[in-house]
Amino acid sequence: MAGRLEGQSALVIGGARGIGEAIAQRFVEEGARVTVADWLEAPGEATAARLGGNFVKVDISQMADAEAAVAKASEATGRLDILVQNAGIYPYTLIEHISPQEWDSVLAVNLKGTFLAARAALVPMKAQRSGRMIFTSSITGPRVTSPGHGHYSASKAGINGFIKAAAIEFANYGITVNGVEPGNILTDGMKAERSADFIAGMEASVPLGRLGTPRDIANAFLFLASDEAAYITGTTIIVDGGQTLPEGPDFRLPG
Ligand SMILES: NC(=O)c1ccc[n+]([C@@H]2O[C@H](COP(=O)([O-])OP(=O)(O)OC[C@H]3O[C@@H](n4cnc5c(N)ncnc54)[C@H](O)[C@@H]3O)[C@@H](O)[C@H]2O)c1
Repeated sequence: MAGRLEGQSALVIGGARGIGEAIAQRFVEEGARVTVADWLEAPGEATAARLGGNFVKVDISQMADAEAAVAKASEATGRLDILVQNAGIYPYTLIEHISPQEWDSVLAVNLKGTFLAARAALVPMKAQRSGRMIFTSSITGPRVTSPGHGHYSASKAGINGFIKAAAIEFANYGITVNGVEPGNILTDGMKAERSADFIAGMEASVPLGRLGTPRDIANAFLFLASDEAAYITGTTIIVDGGQTLPEGPDFRLPG
């Protein structure tokens, strides 16, 4: 099925690579015009060019940048139909070694960035009385966690709380607010930030027997952006190959 987002304008923040790039691509395949926003200039421009969209360089932890991204995405038609805030950072640090500065930097991108993106996108969406806001959360924080994820877990659990609060405030304007909780997805960021042993351990813990792909996640974003999700708001979809299901490590059937 193609054309599910025909003629719609979408902003994908953190769209230069990885999961965000796959979301932008999936939206374009379904007929959306996509603006890619990212703080990585060259990969962001390359992704936008490949998808026939615009690029805007932003640091989503800054309010003026969030507003500039929304302005760029809505400049052609005055409309912003879909907001995706996917930018996130995930340094691995044990809590005893997390400096207050590192704590602030993770919360600034992952959680404050989500609030700033929503605040900026609300302006055109409220005026047009419609819109979809979709945020990248994680299973890490809201459902499970592992050592080294103190700040990250707090930021992603915070996103889930914010989704509920924004959904109830924006419902009156015809705007839905939802999120996706990816499991472990093999991306450039994941390869850079996590050891091969960590990645292999995660893979072994997935009942469906593999790590996720960016496209697995992008398909859930597409659903939440589509007409089929019109009555869904204030919630998240877990896309993790069943990783959060086992009660213990010994879950595989013999043979
Ligand atoms: N890969 C996984 O296993 C996984 C699992 C759960 C959740 N997530 C979440 O998915 C999202 C994408 O992760 P990914 O693995 O594709 O990572 P990635 O590093 O490959 O991509 C993240 C993108 O966000 C951009 N970005 C980071 N900080 C930014 C900022 N301040 N302003 C603008 N852009 C910024 C990066 O430049 C990059 O293009 C993140 O929010 C991450 O927390 C990833």
